[in-house]
Amino acid sequence: MDSTIQAFFAPCPRGLEAVLAEELTDLGAADIKATAGGVAFRGTLALCYRINLQSRIASRILLRIAEGAYRDEHDVYDAAKAIRWQDWFTPQQRIKVKVSAHRCPLTSLDFVTLRVKDAVCDRFQYARGKRPSVDTHTPDILIAVYLDSTTCTFYLDTSGEPLFKRGWRKSAGEAPVRENLAAGILRLSKWTPDTVLYDPMCGSGTFVVEAALMARRIAPGIGRRFAFEKLLSYDHQTLTDLRVELQAAEIPARPGLIHAADHSAQAVTSIKANLALAGLTETVTLQQGDVLQLPAPAEAGLLVTNPPYGHRMGEVEALQSFYPQFGDHLKKHFCGWTVQIFTADMKLPGLLSLAPSRRVPLFNGAIECRLFEFRMVAGSLRKPRPHDSSPPAR
Ligand SMILES: C[S@@+](CC[C@H](N)C(=O)[O-])C[C@H]1O[C@@H](n2cnc3c(N)ncnc32)[C@H](O)[C@@H]1O
Repeated sequence: MDSTIQAFFAPCPRGLEAVLAEELTDLGAADIKATAGGVAFRGTLALCYRINLQSRIASRILLRIAEGAYRDEHDVYDAAKAIRWQDWFTPQQRIKVKVSAHRCPLTSLDFVTLRVKDAVCDRFQYARGKRPSVDTHTPDILIAVYLDSTTCTFYLDTSGEPLFKRGWRKSAGEAPVRENLAAGILRLSKWTPDTVLYDPMCGSGTFVVEAALMARRIAPGIGRRFAFEKLLSYDHQTLTDLRVELQAAEIPARPGLIHAADHSAQAVTSIKANLALAGLTETVTLQQGDVLQLPAPAEAGLLVTNPPYGHRMGEVEALQSFYPQFGDHLKKHFCGWTVQIFTADMKLPGLLSLAPSRRVPLFNGAIECRLFEFRMVAGSLRKPRPHDSSPPAR
């Protein structure tokens, strides 16, 4: 396997850059630099395979193959045509070019996309006498181009389907959180598998499935395919050895560690299907019920959840009465627990009458959200509500 050190960029949901940088360090990456929306790093192609299989937080892994200064579309064309694409793939493979930009002075990114595609095809025509064809739905090779105000950078995607597609999600349920966002939230919460974890409004079960994969040391990408398998540099033996190593490192689950609940029968059916597909039925204790009626599953632990968020009038009103009750329930029954609530509702701490010990800005796609942390210590967190004279929780 080629041991040349390459440069990579791993995009991730905004707000998770620091925890992704930590994860990449753990996996052996070097020269790590977190920027808005992702983390740049260096390593070998073998490390790239490992990170594709093991990263829980990256959305994909891009291999940087060139960069250059530009002022107009001609410069981008020239920079793309100078690249030895034939070292990476063949003209028989179908390509897709995807351009993204930040503070780019050019007027049409579609035109830039077309010019890069022309440059790649022209280079192949010159080098191999044949042009690759374009397939925007199921390409073999995805060429990602990033333009800032002065520099164009060319990447080859090594992941294919985004890495948050682990393969376990059979049924989506209501507004699921992306898998890598859930894994990042668990890392931000500093959860480790010696602490009980509970999601009482679990929906399709994203938090508990990600936690169960972590607890059992299952590599999230162990069962899937990757775009690097289509590159000329692909080394099958390296991938096989890595899969064997990672499978040997899996461990059984500790019973009673991870708990999930939801009041919706449909959600419980959906999470059952997802757990079965992920081989995690034994790892997660699941029940159907209203969060306000269910007891804490242990003396202490981490409650992590993404409660319903109302968009329509009736829903908003129902939640206005639900949240204060949920806050009271936490105060009465979850002393000793840390509670992490992921929500797009910035007013949530007020509605719960709880003071957060931490608030982390995160993005769920384009939606700005917060991860609110509450440390449930008897009596100490109370923000008294008007007309509320009940004694503090013990
Ligand atoms: C935004 S969804 C959670 C999505 C989940 N994080 C996922 O990734 O699939 C909110 C969930 O809370 C559940 N829920 C709402 N009110 C509840 C209650 N009072 N008790 C239990 N579950 C409730 C809903 O059925 C829904 O599945």
